[in-house]
Amino acid sequence: MKKFLAVALTVAMTMTMLTACGSSETAADSTEATAADSTEAAETTETADDTAEETEAEAPAADETAENSDAVSEALADGVLTVGTNAEFPPFEYVDDNGEADGFDMALVKAIGEKLGVEVVIENMEFASLVSSIGSKIDIAAAGMTVTDERKESVDFTNSYYEAVQYVILPADSEIAAAADLEGKTIGVQLGTTGDFIAEDIADSTVSQYNKAVDAVNDLINGRVDCVIIDKNPALVFESKFEGQVVAVDGAQFDFEPEEYAIALPKGDTVLLDQINAALEEIKADGTFDELVKTYIEAE
Ligand code: ARG
Repeated sequence: MKKFLAVALTVAMTMTMLTACGSSETAADSTEATAADSTEAAETTETADDTAEETEAEAPAADETAENSDAVSEALADGVLTVGTNAEFPPFEYVDDNGEADGFDMALVKAIGEKLGVEVVIENMEFASLVSSIGSKIDIAAAGMTVTDERKESVDFTNSYYEAVQYVILPADSEIAAAADLEGKTIGVQLGTTGDFIAEDIADSTVSQYNKAVDAVNDLINGRVDCVIIDKNPALVFESKFEGQVVAVDGAQFDFEPEEYAIALPKGDTVLLDQINAALEEIKADGTFDELVKTYIEAE
């Protein structure tokens, strides 16, 4: 997060370099106004391209700035990258035995911080508060967050780093097996997630929203909900945690569409976007990414 003094100093020292940055706040505002209109056209477009197109007109100097390796996003001016997450989503984020937020996403943002030469500070908060906290309480969010058109109206996303799909967690003896079987059911979800949005669209569903995914699974075991809709990897973690009591079923069987995870950042901060995308690319190229997948996801 920026401290005002730090920002003032940095801006004063690097005024010429940072012309694009200085206007990023204005760019964000005007982009937001057009985002709703362009949502439809943007539907099938890659996030990064999309963002570049949208901001090109407002910030023509952004490309030049990004190429200059000394360019620093205002968000990083104090040398700290504050990352919001919701550590209720294993294996991507969870609270470890020492009470610290840990998991794939946490290791990934720490690796990004190292590439960018900044300290990473994690803020654990409710998932539903993440998007609105970006640019104020937190710089970016790394939370197994799916890229959606609705979220793209208020934040930008990096290139995606993981493919996912919603799964359906069922009691071991459930007869639910296809999309039509979900109609009229009581469905447990984590509040504000894509699982929540899917559940609300199912005919005659009653949606029970939880702040913590594990509470939804507990209510499934207690018989208070008929199923839980949640992302694949957490579903598999819960399946092994509550082995014999619940099963996790691939959402493809229920016609759920694939989803992509990406890091969310302030709308219009193209410098930060380019920096994180470049760091991500390096992390993939040097084998770090695959190591993290092995350690956190495949070792489950
Ligand atoms: N992928 C889903 C979404 O973006 C769920 C993410 C939940 N993440 C978490 N850290 N609780 O809506």
